Amino acid sequence: MFNDLSSTAALLATRRSGKARDLAAPGPDDAQLRQILEAAMRVPDHGKLAPWRFVVIPLDQRDAFAAMLRAAYLKANPGAGRLELEAMDQFAQQAPVMVAILSTPAAGSKIPVWEQELSSGAACMNMLIAAHAQGFAGNWLTAWPAFNEDVLVSLGGKPNDRIAGFVFIGTQVKPLEERPRPTYEAVVSTWKGG
Ligand SMILES: Cc1cc2nc3c(=O)[nH]c(=O)nc-3n(C[C@H](O)[C@H](O)[C@H](O)COP(=O)(O)O)c2cc1C
Repeated sequence: MFNDLSSTAALLATRRSGKARDLAAPGPDDAQLRQILEAAMRVPDHGKLAPWRFVVIPLDQRDAFAAMLRAAYLKANPGAGRLELEAMDQFAQQAPVMVAILSTPAAGSKIPVWEQELSSGAACMNMLIAAHAQGFAGNWLTAWPAFNEDVLVSLGGKPNDRIAGFVFIGTQVKPLEERPRPTYEAVVSTWKGG
């Protein structure tokens, strides 16, 4: 199962994101989610610091999570209107599985913080790939909640931590169309010295 490189290549070539709001049940069960999160733990990590934490926000906590987002949003935007607050509810209620990924760089390490933060991005990407391998679709979003200090604290984050994003996972209910991609030539070049 894990050494079929041709199917792995096909997986990488076909993966694309669903839209979090279109991800329906069923989502990964507990064993599948564990496998996804274990894949996320197997990312390059200079210094073996494990500078990331994954916080699962289960369905029975979504109302409480939405209430926390609303309170944080209102505190940051005292004049917020109904639609803005509803957007917080909608964010919290998406997809059967929701995981917050915290970048938790080790302070005082000789490994640059940038490298540690890149590792948390790799963890998010591995989650998406592992979810796709199980037949689910995923979506990595930041949006307003990822940049708010109160939200970070509610997820257990400390002052130098950051929210790398929220990965939503479920079953894609609408057919996915490919999106425009950059051309190979626009992105890839060959270095020629001298
Ligand atoms: C760190 C990060 C944050 C993102 N945040 C958002 C977001 O808040 N809202 C959004 O519509 N897309 C966001 N995206 C884009 C989607 O995750 C995704 O890249 C896009 O829907 C197409 O993905 P695909 O190339 O995997 O199909 C974000 C991507 C990254 C890497």
